[in-house]
Amino acid sequence: MPWFDQVVPAYWLVTADVKEARKHLNFSEIGKLPAAQQKGFLFEAVNMIQMGAMPLPAYRRVHPDAVVTPDQLTVLRNYLTTPPDPSNAAEVGAKAVTDAAATDVQYGKWVQASQTALEVKPEWNGVPFDPDYNNWKAISSTDRFDNHTMREILGNDVAVKAIADGHINPWPDGAAFAKVAWQQAAPDEKGVVKTGAFIQVELMVKDSAKYASSEGWGWGRWRGTDLKPYGKDAQFQNECMSCHEPVAKNDHVYTMPFSGQTAGGQ
Ligand code: HEC
Repeated sequence: MPWFDQVVPAYWLVTADVKEARKHLNFSEIGKLPAAQQKGFLFEAVNMIQMGAMPLPAYRRVHPDAVVTPDQLTVLRNYLTTPPDPSNAAEVGAKAVTDAAATDVQYGKWVQASQTALEVKPEWNGVPFDPDYNNWKAISSTDRFDNHTMREILGNDVAVKAIADGHINPWPDGAAFAKVAWQQAAPDEKGVVKTGAFIQVELMVKDSAKYASSEGWGWGRWRGTDLKPYGKDAQFQNECMSCHEPVAKNDHVYTMPFSGQTAGGQ
């Protein structure tokens, strides 16, 4: 049975608010994406469900039965966590080799880059890259049930202070977040899971005047070790904003660091 037939029944329950959901995320298009991207998409969806952002709270009030049950969530999680078949040593071995090779290649590039200082272009909407994100404080790392990527959410000093002071809605100007994603490398011989190849870094920088037309946030995504700005033009940020729209009441930020709660949590 194709994966879509197994997942879709649970998935469509999740997205029972088809009209509203379409406005935010183009569900009808997922089926056309390559398998890896479909999986990535579902991973985001499961994260959002866990954080209570989907189905949209307004819809849930009118249709309480549209809430995803823990069982349905398990179906989705199981689908996403399907590990490589251990009886198929060749498959596991091949993956480990690819991961290790990818990491080595990146390491080589990084060593070179540190000598030639990588020049990173601003995003298409003009938001500049901030290499300092590396020194920001880790606020949370996203659930790693997905076997393919690991993510970390970092906040700058202004964000960290805002958390300490409880001034997080709205977030103060100058607050910034980074979301960094890596491939998850195959576990080593001790079963320790490590980050593999770097995928991308995303930034959200708060400036309510400067970024008034994009919900008060400057959005940016830089991909690969050469940190190439994402998208074709400034429209890319609509994708960011529509996916962060379900947490508009939290000033568009998903991560709720202080109590371990995420947006939508009670
Ligand atoms: C498919 C939905 C989706 C899209 C599209 C999306 N995000 Fe997010 N984003 C999330 C979710 C869910 C989180 C919460 C953390 C997690 O699950 O990894 C998040 C978290 C973040 C964070 C950390 C702060 C926070 O809100 O928790 C940043 C920064 C971020 N996203 C930037 C972006 C940028 C920039 C874009 C567009 C280039 C973008 N996102 C597009 C779903 C999305």
